[in-house]
Amino acid sequence: MAVVQVKDGVHWVGAVDWNNRYFHGVTYSTHRGTTYNAYLVAGEKYRALVDTVYTPFSEVLVSHLTELVSMKDIDYVVVNHVEIDHSGALPRIMELCPQAKICCSRKALEPLRKHFGDQGWEMHPVKTGDVLDLGGKTIRFIEAPMLHWPDSMFSYIPEDKLLLPNDAFGQHLASSHRFDDQVDNAILMDEAAKYYANILLPFSALVERKLREIDELGIEIDTIAPSHGVIWRQDPGQIINAYQRWATGLETPGRVSPEIVVVFDTMWGSTEKMAEAIAEQLSAQGYRISLYNIGKSDYSDIIREILEAKAVIIGSSTINNGMLPSLSPLMEELVGLKPKGRIGAAFGSHGWRGGAVKQISTTLTDAGINLVGDGLAIQWVPDREDLEACRNLARKVGSVLASRAK
Ligand code: FEO
Repeated sequence: MAVVQVKDGVHWVGAVDWNNRYFHGVTYSTHRGTTYNAYLVAGEKYRALVDTVYTPFSEVLVSHLTELVSMKDIDYVVVNHVEIDHSGALPRIMELCPQAKICCSRKALEPLRKHFGDQGWEMHPVKTGDVLDLGGKTIRFIEAPMLHWPDSMFSYIPEDKLLLPNDAFGQHLASSHRFDDQVDNAILMDEAAKYYANILLPFSALVERKLREIDELGIEIDTIAPSHGVIWRQDPGQIINAYQRWATGLETPGRVSPEIVVVFDTMWGSTEKMAEAIAEQLSAQGYRISLYNIGKSDYSDIIREILEAKAVIIGSSTINNGMLPSLSPLMEELVGLKPKGRIGAAFGSHGWRGGAVKQISTTLTDAGINLVGDGLAIQWVPDREDLEACRNLARKVGSVLASRAK
């Protein structure tokens, strides 16, 4: 994809990765690929490259840069975040412009050295409020620890009211276009929500605080250019407001999202019968349900659904005194992501001996989800009475949700 002007003197020089299908190992499915955004900021006196790209795309970055500038004329490289999808091309860039000075947060110094060794690069740690004057254009730094790593920071160009927040406000969305007004808005917001759910959810309190801090600093924002996906130029308020809602658990106005997510795995169909009875009862009560057989589903898509759901109900047959291992990645992710403010319940059928329901209940509690009831474990194939017990569990979940809505 070609170099694109974002503002006068600011160009997108990154790379589009159409083929990426997983991020962070296989924890996050990226059905629509991704981009690694980097930006060349040119002042009257100096030029700064803000972030680089993932290592395999180093030459794409170099080729984009050389369309605009001679490599020896790059004076600064701003490393907003050390993770390799943004700093992977740094050694190649520094090889071509060894004169450049690196600006990064103090926390980034050690991981940069650990990733790339002692290269003799001139590194300048910066902190919130520090300013890099490029001549007629300045870059103001704002530390943003845990959005997404402790080293993360935002760069802000006040002359253009342009925020370069690295991972924050990103989406894993490959596109031939660079701006929000050029892509389907429903797809864009869905990918932004999936990104928030799978990456930023556990840091929601920090997201809230950072949004408040930006407000208190009096930073005016006309455009947000993240390091993944498209640039928010038409309506940056759309993504800021969405972050505020996702961080605080507020509903998205107008979105018909599932209110209750039911996930199960089943050995011989009994737990599936229970899942269906629970889902049907809640649906009859007027709730919007998403029902997932984990063996046929992508768990990072489920996590995206949970972002805007009010309840999470999980069921499993028992194997080796615990839940089926197919549920483990989802459950482990939930414990890490801690989707607070939701209620949950566990259910499952077992043969000779149970254990799955107890394990699911414990894990849901560890994930910060408030349990409704002690979990419903039945033995063998659910009969009429057992299915009524499933419907009763659903009624309990429904009545807790109804009382919360008052
Ligand atoms: Fe896109 Fe935390 O890296």
